[in-house]
Amino acid sequence: MKQGVSHLLAAALIYPLTGSVPAFAWAPQGHEIIAAIARAHLTPAARAKSASLLGGDSMFVLVASWADEVRDARSQTAPWHYVDIPLDAKGYDPRRDCPGGQCVVAQIEYDARKLGDANAAKPARAEALRFLIHFVGDVHQPLHAADHGDHGGNDVIVHWGRQRGSLHHVWDQTVVAALGADAMTVAQNIDASLTPGQRLRDSGGAPADWANESLADARVIYGQINGPYLARDYAQRQRALVTDRLAKAGLRLAALLNKILK
Ligand code: ADE
Ligand code: ZN
Ligand code: ZN
Repeated sequence: MKQGVSHLLAAALIYPLTGSVPAFAWAPQGHEIIAAIARAHLTPAARAKSASLLGGDSMFVLVASWADEVRDARSQTAPWHYVDIPLDAKGYDPRRDCPGGQCVVAQIEYDARKLGDANAAKPARAEALRFLIHFVGDVHQPLHAADHGDHGGNDVIVHWGRQRGSLHHVWDQTVVAALGADAMTVAQNIDASLTPGQRLRDSGGAPADWANESLADARVIYGQINGPYLARDYAQRQRALVTDRLAKAGLRLAALLNKILK
């Protein structure tokens, strides 16, 4: 028994089965980075109203992964985290990709309306805000808006260095972790690297546009892969793309909330 456990431990240290945990979304770090970038770009009114709804200014970043935490207990919310647009499709088609509004694009639209509804109860508006902070992040994860008959890469096992896991997990977690260990520092560095033009350009669009961008990036990601072995430095090579997705998610989340929480 003891030996079995130490074997397991050794195996866990040498070959972390990073894909053995069901992949949810950008890992908490990705969502924290996005929320931190967004918070820095909120107007004073949007920041104050967010703090009031969530119960404190620091909550904006702390609730960024709340939607993943309730996903198991509220199973009807599971499809809200992604949209399976066929990888070879021209773009998002709500009738094909989002029946009954059960996808991330429609949920962002729904939560934006709920948050802006002055007649809605405060707890309902607070929940809509928690979902928005999370889902605007998710729709920017390329593999949350594309499907290659593999559940957004969840069924594709890849190897890099001594690790193995799903391609989806690599994009939820590994490529983000490669940016740095501290989410707040990563967010500050990304924010400091943005030009005024980028800040302006990347503050608009609609959820369907963001999904279509993710789809285009997913095509690039799949196009670069041949076989189950990724380059040892795969995560480093994806730095520019990951940074771009996190920055856009943060800026757009802020712009959306600035419009709603006046
Ligand atoms: N489950 C099915 N498709 C998915 C996707 N694109 N992202 C995350 N989870 C999924
Ligand atoms: Zn999610
Ligand atoms: Zn995911």
